Amino acid sequence: MSESQPTIKTPRNPATLDLLRAIAERRSLRSYQDRPVARELLGQLAVSARWAPSNWNSQPWRFSFFDSKEDIERLSDVMDAKAQEALLRSVDPHFTHFVEHSISYFHVVRNAPVVVAMFYKPFAPRMEAVISDFFADPLCGAGWNPNLISFGMAAQNMLLAAHAMGLAACFHSGPVPFLNGAIHEMLGLHPKLVFGGLITLGWPTPGESPASGAKRKNLEMFLNFSSLGESGPR
Ligand SMILES: Cc1cc2nc3c(=O)[nH]c(=O)nc-3n(C[C@H](O)[C@H](O)[C@H](O)COP(=O)(O)O)c2cc1C
Repeated sequence: MSESQPTIKTPRNPATLDLLRAIAERRSLRSYQDRPVARELLGQLAVSARWAPSNWNSQPWRFSFFDSKEDIERLSDVMDAKAQEALLRSVDPHFTHFVEHSISYFHVVRNAPVVVAMFYKPFAPRMEAVISDFFADPLCGAGWNPNLISFGMAAQNMLLAAHAMGLAACFHSGPVPFLNGAIHEMLGLHPKLVFGGLITLGWPTPGESPASGAKRKNLEMFLNFSSLGESGPR
């Protein structure tokens, strides 16, 4: 069974309650009113993202906010063209399925009043190699990507801040393979900056209910008060 309603135990501090509520009630919302979001609010989103924790406080993230219809359409055109080309060239049904699934969400990007392109500086690849080599464990280096983790924390801060401000928002990694490189060129960014995803956002369409996202797996599947020697979460 999975949990569909956020359950909040009442803490003593009202600010804590607000925060726990915001964490539990934030949903990925993909339908937005056709009206602009003030740049002051967009600035606040960037400020909130900036307060995320990061490895060595390196703050490796970079955000580009798009809030003009023309720019968002241009991005969407590039994305659509690349995806159609991928469909034509694909000979692998799994890849075709991935492209089709990704395309089914592209309309959310095209119709969003604001799109935030999010990047991060890669962690020194030499360090990853050094760590893997030292421990003779390739997974050790590959799984060790603190800059990506910091990026994810900044993205979540931005989603929570948007929710707190009454905005609807959704993170998208589906567009990444179809925009990668082209978006660097369009923005004049260094090609080594890793494109991690987009956040679409805007004022919510009244009555839109979130998709399946409100469900969560049971806590026992993740949580384990571990003792060494016992099995952990599966
Ligand atoms: C790394 C990541 C990638 C995601 N990519 C997409 C995407 O490409 N398109 C989309 O519509 N939603 C995307 N989502 C949103 C998830 O579908 C959503 O978070 C999940 O279904 C849970 O729903 P909730 O956010 O409403 O709780 C992504 C979320 C994350 C964290």
